[in-house]
This record gives sequence, C-alpha cells and structure tokens, in this order.
Amino acid sequence: MSEKLAKLTLGGETYDFPVLSGTVGPDVIDIRSLYSKTGLFTYDPGFTSTAACDSAITYIDGDKGELLYRGYPIDQLAEKSSYLEVCYLLLYGELPTAAELEDFGNRVTRHTMVHEQMHYFYRGFRRDAHPMAIVTGVVGAMAAFYHDSTDINDPVQREIASIRMIAKLPTIAAMAYKYSVGQPFVYPRNDLDYASNFLHMCFAVPAEEYKVDPVIAKAMDRIFTLHADHEQNASTSTVRLSGSSDANPFACIAAGVACLWGPAHGGANEAALNMLRQIGSVDRIPEFIARAKDKEDPFRLMGFGHRVYKNYDPRAAVMQESAREVLSLLGVENNPTLQVAQELEKIALEDQYFVDRKLYPNVDFYSGIILDAIGFPTSMFTAIFAVSRTVGWIAQWKEMIGDPQKKIGRPRQLYNGATNRDYVDIRQR
Ligand code: CMC
Repeated sequence: MSEKLAKLTLGGETYDFPVLSGTVGPDVIDIRSLYSKTGLFTYDPGFTSTAACDSAITYIDGDKGELLYRGYPIDQLAEKSSYLEVCYLLLYGELPTAAELEDFGNRVTRHTMVHEQMHYFYRGFRRDAHPMAIVTGVVGAMAAFYHDSTDINDPVQREIASIRMIAKLPTIAAMAYKYSVGQPFVYPRNDLDYASNFLHMCFAVPAEEYKVDPVIAKAMDRIFTLHADHEQNASTSTVRLSGSSDANPFACIAAGVACLWGPAHGGANEAALNMLRQIGSVDRIPEFIARAKDKEDPFRLMGFGHRVYKNYDPRAAVMQESAREVLSLLGVENNPTLQVAQELEKIALEDQYFVDRKLYPNVDFYSGIILDAIGFPTSMFTAIFAVSRTVGWIAQWKEMIGDPQKKIGRPRQLYNGATNRDYVDIRQR
C-alpha cells in the first residue's frame, strides 16, 4: 500500500487516492477508483498528464534532455553498442553476454526472408504507392502468412512472432523501395550485419556487386538505435491499445506503423527534409521563422519541438554528429541542406518564440539529411523509422501481455452531443 495520499475534495466530501512512485520520474496519482468512489472521470485529451501504463523499458527526462533504454543513456549506446544488442536489451532487460548476442543474432538472421508468396502480394500495389502504405499493409498481412505465431497466450509463439518482425521488417521495407523503383527484390544476406543487410537489400542490383561502406553501415545502425524505443509515444500507445484487446501481434504492429506515418510523429523526418529543401538557402530562413511564429499560418518548423523534451533532444545531438561524418565521407560537407539546417537551428534557438516554448531540434531534424546522403528518397524515411521502432513496439507489447494488471484499453469521454431525442420521420424534417 502506498504511503503517500492525494486528497480530492468535492462538494464537501474528501476522497483519498494513493500516490505511486517509480524508480525515477514524477509520482502518479492512482485514480483507478475515482469513478467508483465519486462518479466522475478525469479529462486529459492528448494524455498530457496521464500515465497509461507501468513500464520498465525506456525513460525520458524531458527537462534534462535524457533518454535511457533500460537505464543506459542513449549516447553511450549510440557510440558503443549495436542495434541488435540494443534490441536484445530492450526485449530482455539486460545487455547480452557475447554468447547470448551471438545466439540472438542467429535467431534473427534465420527469419530475414519473407514467405515467397509475399512477392505476389506486393504486385497488387501500384508502383507509386507510398512505402508506408505498403509496409502498413504487408505487416498486417503477416498474420495471414504466419498463422503459427498468432496465439498471444503461447509464450513460444509470442517470441517467434517478435523475432520474425524484427528480422523481416528490413526486408519488407527494402522490398517496398525496390518495388517503387521497378528493380528486382534483393534477398537478404545473412553474412551481413543488420544495417549492412538492409542497405544491401535496398541498393544492390543483380547486374553488379554492391559493397556496403562501413561508415554508412555504422550511420544506418545508429539511426536504427536512436529510433528503437521512446516510451509511450503515439504509435507505441497505439500498439498497446491494439494489443489490449488480445489482437494478434502482427495486427498490433501494423497499427503502430499506421500511426507512425503522421507528420506530427514519424512522418516528421520526411516533412523536415522537404521543408529544408523548400527553404533552400540561408537568406530565406527569416521568412520561414516568421511563418512558424504566425498563428494564422499552419506552417510549423518540422523537426522542431517535442511533447516530452523541453531541452535538446539527445538523439538530435548524435544525429547531427553522424550527419557531419556521413557528408564528409561522401565529400559533400558543403551540402546546402545541412547548411540551412545548422543556420535554422542557430536562429531558432536564439529566437524568443522558440526559447519561451522550449522548442529544440528533435531526432528528425538531422536524420533526413543522413538518409538523403545515403541515397534514400524522402518517401522511405518514415519506413526506416518503422523498421527501427519495431523492436520498441514489440518490447512494449510483450511487457503489456505479461502484465497481470492488463485490461482492455477503454478511455471514457466528456459527452457534448445531443441528449436523448425521438426519431423524426424523413417527411417531417
Ligand atoms: N514550430 C512552431 N511552433 C511550434 C512547433 C514548431 N515545430 N512545435 C510547437 N510549437 C508551438 C505551438 O504552436 C504552441 O504555441 P502556443 O503555445 O503559442 O500555442 C507551443 O509551441 C506548444 O505546442 P503544442 O502543439 O501544444 O505541443 P505538443 O506537445 O502538442 O506537440 C509536437 C509536440 C512534436 C507535435 C510539435 O512540437 C510539432 O508539431 N513539431 C513538428 C513536428 C515534429 O517535428 N514532430 C516530430 C516529433 S519527434 C519524433 C517522433 O516522436 O515521432
């Protein structure tokens, strides 16, 4: 029983609610008994003050600009770890030993190919379909191809479904890309690491050999690592809400992919690069800053601002460094988009509007520049985010399924519509 209590006084009556503490972060008022005690609901659209679950996976301190995966700071993981090691950490809670990592790598590798029938499934899409539309459809369709891992009550099936998605998402996203450019699908290569295999599936063609540059592979691996999880964001909450009805894991992750596509969420990386290109040159920055501040204009600085970070997004700092490394490797340090991005960041960080609202660059501000330099079209950016985030969605979904307190998610509402009225015959309206 919690020691701390929150008191709510309503119409002369006082009600007590327990205050629960986590290991770090704000305490929460446990209002589960609020309705039964008072007949009232709370109102919090956008969940700005509501903890929807109890989790031990990822922690963000928005004021400090800190992001921890299972307690480990993101900058340490981005520098010293690898994406597959981070996947293991997120899924199982601890960093693997060398033997555990090798075993995990082998398990993932054995599942990288997709069912051959899926190739025909792709052919039903238009060639100009957005890769996110294809990825949403194909991930949902996995339930039709892998029936033997849809029983959420069987831990073995849950594990197989998880590994299948982590292994196949790069293949699915790369196939969406190949389909859009009219090139043959490239089968996965299990002798390559996770990031190199993805790059190979995207950029190799049967006519010639494609060698993955280790600097590019490292940058790709970092992009995957930095996007791997981000606690209860919109797509993760979508996955949890979908999973709360006991829907199969492929359906839940497809729901997460669909939510991620929005420009306020994962779609921001595509929107940010398009915006930087639209600005085009440093002298046009003031015009766009003015538009971002104008409340009559719907324009926002894409890649800026965050619901939780009220400080520099720690992922943006790593991403900026990576962007410089990749551009210098490719000999395009003077890339005009990077120059616009750096100058825009400088101006915005000194502008009172952005300072007052604590608006800083987020992860998407620089990721697009790297992906563009690697050779990806903007339409692939969010699909790459989906590949990276799959492990986070799965870790959160598994945590929820294993939680004895799990309940179907069912928010309540403040109803503001018409009250009970009688049906009127069409001739009398
Ligand atoms: N440009 C200009 N003004 C902004 C921006 C921006 N990018 N972001 C927020 N504001 C203003 C907003 O107009 C509001 O001003 P006021 O108080 O005068 O009305 C204030 O800042 C607070 O904004 P909000 O919309 O209430 O904040 P939120 O927490 O609901 O939204 C956000 C967070 C990320 C949706 C928003 O900052 C945004 O739309 N950013 C651009 C899109 C973006 O980069 N998204 C990627 C997020 S990180 C990756 C991910 O999680 O997927």
